Amino acid sequence: MPDSLLYQSGFANEFATEAVPGALPQGQNAPQKAAFGLYTEQLSGTPFTAPRTTNRRTWTYRIRPSVTHKPFEEIHSGLIRGGPFTELPTPPTQFRWDPLPIPEHRTDFVQGIVTMGGGGDPAFQTGVAIHIYAANTSMEHRYFYSADGELLIVPQLGSLLLYTELGLLHVTPGEIAVIPRGIKFRVELEAKEARGYICENYGLPFRLPDLGPIGANGLANPRDFLAPVADFEDVDGDFRIVSKFLGKLWEAEIDHSPLDVVAWHGNYCPYKYNLNLFNCINTVSFDHPDPSIYTVLTAPSPIPGTANCDFVIFPPRWMVAEHTFRPPWFHRNMMNEFMGLILGQYDAKAEGFVPGGASLHNCMSGHGPDAETWQKATSADLKPVYLSGTLAFMFETQMVIRPTRFALETRILQHEYYECWQGLKNNFRKSVK
Ligand code: FE2
Repeated sequence: MPDSLLYQSGFANEFATEAVPGALPQGQNAPQKAAFGLYTEQLSGTPFTAPRTTNRRTWTYRIRPSVTHKPFEEIHSGLIRGGPFTELPTPPTQFRWDPLPIPEHRTDFVQGIVTMGGGGDPAFQTGVAIHIYAANTSMEHRYFYSADGELLIVPQLGSLLLYTELGLLHVTPGEIAVIPRGIKFRVELEAKEARGYICENYGLPFRLPDLGPIGANGLANPRDFLAPVADFEDVDGDFRIVSKFLGKLWEAEIDHSPLDVVAWHGNYCPYKYNLNLFNCINTVSFDHPDPSIYTVLTAPSPIPGTANCDFVIFPPRWMVAEHTFRPPWFHRNMMNEFMGLILGQYDAKAEGFVPGGASLHNCMSGHGPDAETWQKATSADLKPVYLSGTLAFMFETQMVIRPTRFALETRILQHEYYECWQGLKNNFRKSVK
């Protein structure tokens, strides 16, 4: 890793960066001849005609254009799935999983991706795939991109160095990174083991949620999002580009590194965000607000107020509500909720939901605190309490998340999950007499 890493601050700003002075054209996007013999290439993350407020595109000035590779051939996709997710029927059962074990054999980031479920179809640019990755070696001689969707990466164990076409991101547990659809990258592991979660968003790119009555500030502030500066590899060799396209992996030979962008400007780029900088807004009177108050990023669907995917976190915070059941209440939801835990303990569960694990509560399937948590929460002395050392998150989507065959048949599935609610007894009969 370089001694110091430079970033550009802001969310989807019109960034401009050059690794070699003079490489970035001034005053126009595509001069007749770019400086230093570079090729000009536009990367569009939205349709050309998307409204200005949501239009995302970046102009790149690169050593060779992206088209300079051999044809793609299908390779084994391992446990990656892409939708439609029809391997097995989807039960409405509540599911929970233990952490995915770190592989014993050499496994890089791409080989280590296991799809847990998803909804929608990348062919329709709608829906999500939810993956967990577990890896123990850096990617060598190969580069990856997904044409299916943008990748929201949530490290849980081990830091990652994401060498992307547009520059380098260093991401640690507690931070997230987003790699937009189509952007090539390779992953180096900083430690011997790495594990985390990926939400692959097939829909419109993630954006910051509107704040409504909250006002101009709060939740995730734009200045805390960091984009890389231009950085390039001018390297020849025997490399492979691995493409995720319509749920399958395809590989093409390329005789040079595709991370050869010397300068770029635009608002379509990878970025990272430190979840510790999230400014929580919460009740200071009574009742537990809906978890949407913790939305970091949202990828809207065409239906107002209905997300293709929301990324929501439950970070350390004060709990001060009075006369209130403080943990998340029992509920059923039209939306579909996949949860993960980065560290610590989640306040709705006494045990069983551990860092690196996951849970899934699909449309209209009841869920909520386990019996032990309910007992404590209904009898607690409600003084202000600081919830510390915890970081849970949720991918919430309008798509029913259909578990893959792996997710339903793996040994890490907790078949006894339902038991955590069986201690919730009929108290009414005794009380009403
Ligand atoms: Fe929920």
